Amino acid sequence: MVGVNRLLETNTAVVGLQWGDEGKGKIVDVLTEHADVVARYCGGANAGHSVRFNGKKFATHLLPVGVFRPGVMNLVGNGVVLDPAVIVREIDEISAAGIPVGPGNLRISYKAHVVMPWHKIEDGARESNAGGEAIGTTRRGIGPTYADKMHRSTAIRVADLVDPARLTEKVRRIGTERNRMLAVLHQASPVDLDATIDEYLKLGARLAPMVDDVGKLLLDYRKAGKKVVFEGAHAALLDVDHGTYPYVTSSSCSSLGIFSGTGVPPQYVQSIIGIAKSYSTRVGGGPFPTELHDQTAHTIRERGREYGTTTGRPRRIGWFDAVACRYTADLSGATSIAMTLLDVLSGLSEIKICVGYKYRGQPLDYFRADAEVLSEVECAYETLQGWQADISLTNRFDQLPSEAQKYVKRIEELLGVPVSMVSVGPERAQTLVR
Ligand code: GDP
Ligand code: IMO
Ligand code: MG
Repeated sequence: MVGVNRLLETNTAVVGLQWGDEGKGKIVDVLTEHADVVARYCGGANAGHSVRFNGKKFATHLLPVGVFRPGVMNLVGNGVVLDPAVIVREIDEISAAGIPVGPGNLRISYKAHVVMPWHKIEDGARESNAGGEAIGTTRRGIGPTYADKMHRSTAIRVADLVDPARLTEKVRRIGTERNRMLAVLHQASPVDLDATIDEYLKLGARLAPMVDDVGKLLLDYRKAGKKVVFEGAHAALLDVDHGTYPYVTSSSCSSLGIFSGTGVPPQYVQSIIGIAKSYSTRVGGGPFPTELHDQTAHTIRERGREYGTTTGRPRRIGWFDAVACRYTADLSGATSIAMTLLDVLSGLSEIKICVGYKYRGQPLDYFRADAEVLSEVECAYETLQGWQADISLTNRFDQLPSEAQKYVKRIEELLGVPVSMVSVGPERAQTLVR
């Protein structure tokens, strides 16, 4: 695509600036036409990244979307929590669709942590018992796996998964302890440890040819002058440290997690593309200052097919929040913005942008990553005129209706970062590069 290679003059990161599902998969896929390597650095099978090309739609949860580009190497970094059954299923499904995935285009860090059956049971049980305090997790065992990573002695890494003796010993020791805990705290039935050993030994054997030292590979790629795209998962407002805590995921999913999550130094990445939807969505619980509950929300949800890629849950919908995105663009060091799903707003008579928050009657001068504060803020809106034309076939920014151009330029001004790409549909070609 014209102009895309200009965005990839250096190693580049693609990171979500809202609460996920901004279209990171699509933008990484577009960029990857000109890249050599794609690397995931955070999260696990709680992510769902969709790509569409030649009229076909694919979604990945653990595999980087570079698998859809022949010749591109895909890396799963140490910051990821790996559900081995999910990645093996993805490998098999995508290979069966005629796109081979194997050691030639996929490497997994031996340092990544493994999601075990007890993590998923604990995640589900905690959510079910939390009542009104539930986070609304994907129940994929993400939080409990990262908790074990920090506990250390109860963690299992990919290096253990591919070593039968180590795996057997750890599953027996950790699983026995965990079964006691599941019974006492969650009244859950025990995990069958023999069956788990059997299943994970098989999964380990399948994945072993792809297990590698991802940090070392990345450092070697830099010496060889290869172009790397870091595929962010989730988004900055779901970052465990900087997001809308406690309604966040359990990883460092802003751009700050790239370095610890793959094993490269900060100067490795010079271009950071922040992905922002033209409105806001969020799945699960937590504060959402610009949330809408009216007909507009319904229209946007249906037009944008705003249903979770991982869990199928309807996504909550709201206006674009420039206060939140200014914060996440700053935090992520965004050097440019890709605005996605602009086509979904066509046909609205007016469109609002949140340009300020008031908290207990006083203006808040900066975003506050605190769920208690955010649940009380009142938004100040600017109203812009909408446009009626279908823009999904437009292929140049200056051919968009003037109202659509104004909308993008106003957001650019509010964020203080140039918008380098505008996406007007899910297909690769429906992307305008400025
Ligand atoms: P991700 O998690 O950030 O990769 O995003 P998801 O794939 O979960 O959700 C984004 C959804 O929007 C997917 O169904 C994409 O196919 C779709 N999509 C991406 N960009 C556009 C766009 O510009 N317009 C429309 N209409 N859909 C888009
Ligand atoms: P992608 O990469 C949207 C949300 C969940 C829940 C919270 C915690 O597709 O943008 P978890 O299972 O991670 O413990 O759930 O985080 N969440 C996402 N929402 N897109 C995602 O990923 C998400 N990953 C996690 O809905 O509210
Ligand atoms: Mg998604």
